[in-house]
Amino acid sequence: MNFKHVITGDGSKTLYLQSLDETYHSNHGALQESMHVYIQSGLQYLIDNKDVDQLNVFEMGFGTGLNAYLTAYYSRLYQKKVFYTSIEKFPLKESDYRKLEYFNLIESDPYTAESEKIAQAPWGEQIAISEFFVLEKIEEDFFNFNRETANYDIIYYDAFGHRAQSEMWELRPFEICRSLLRKGGILVTYASKGSARRNLIQSGFEVKKIPGAPGKREMMRAIKV
Ligand SMILES: C[S@@+](CC[C@H](N)C(=O)[O-])C[C@H]1O[C@@H](n2cnc3c(N)ncnc32)[C@H](O)[C@@H]1O
Repeated sequence: MNFKHVITGDGSKTLYLQSLDETYHSNHGALQESMHVYIQSGLQYLIDNKDVDQLNVFEMGFGTGLNAYLTAYYSRLYQKKVFYTSIEKFPLKESDYRKLEYFNLIESDPYTAESEKIAQAPWGEQIAISEFFVLEKIEEDFFNFNRETANYDIIYYDAFGHRAQSEMWELRPFEICRSLLRKGGILVTYASKGSARRNLIQSGFEVKKIPGAPGKREMMRAIKV
């Protein structure tokens, strides 16, 4: 795939994919978007509202690994054990990760070591990255993912936007998400488009629009009812 590495508004880098005319993160700030949408509105929200020591996270779209790196860091900070499954149809090359320089976004030795381990973790195996973070990267098309015993507490839904990948915002992917979550589990996404919201509702979610990351008015948090 043909990428350009670009610097976003908060100084962190992302990838621009020429074939889709799409970036992997918000141009306003890759790090601040991941932090706002997936960590603060997702992981932290769940921890604040649920008394659990262990969480199962599913990510649609491993991409650059930024959400995984941040979740590994916060699992240690919150002292919660996280089992993190992430699916990716088009894994990046190691050289693409390196140029993003995510390894030193958060300056602490254990974090740097963990993010290196996450980038290098083999696909298709469960790997303990730290005492708090167990990772399983799956190289597969999300539409073919099927796990009968799935019982995820939270889904980070991080597909490309509707203009680039409209099939990811239709009914079917949200039905798959619903089947992967336990009752009361949540899905967070940076998107807030009306048609995606209606499809989430139709597939069995209660949807709340909440303030989006800088540069975006709203995002969605959906609960499986
Ligand atoms: C917006 S990017 C975000 C990725 C990632 N969360 C990150 O922080 O870099 C969307 C990702 O979803 C992946 N993707 C798109 N369609 C997919 C599918 N059907 N199954 C699995 N992965 C898919 C893309 O290859 C890309 O890596």
